Amino acid sequence: MINIVFVTNDRKTVSVAENSNLLRVSLREQCGLPFKCGGGNCGTCKCLIEKGLENTDPVKKKERTLLSAEELEDGYRLGCQTFVLGDVEVSWEVT
Ligand code: FES
Repeated sequence: MINIVFVTNDRKTVSVAENSNLLRVSLREQCGLPFKCGGGNCGTCKCLIEKGLENTDPVKKKERTLLSAEELEDGYRLGCQTFVLGDVEVSWEVT
């Protein structure tokens, strides 16, 4: 099992199986990651992998469309397109 820390939600931490989808975990465990489409089209689930970026799967084409090269470099991902392979800490903008 791996741990996901939802920093913006009072550092709520959940243990999940490897290769879990970040948005699906957030929905299931009510961790508060924003979303709309769930399919990589709206960008609402943009989030920052504060720790453990190396523990996420490769960036998808849809993420390259919705996030700038600089954002990707900084560790931003789309939660609905991101699968976790090890411990991560994730935060997002509250609007
Ligand atoms: S929820 Fe729309 S891109 Fe992830």
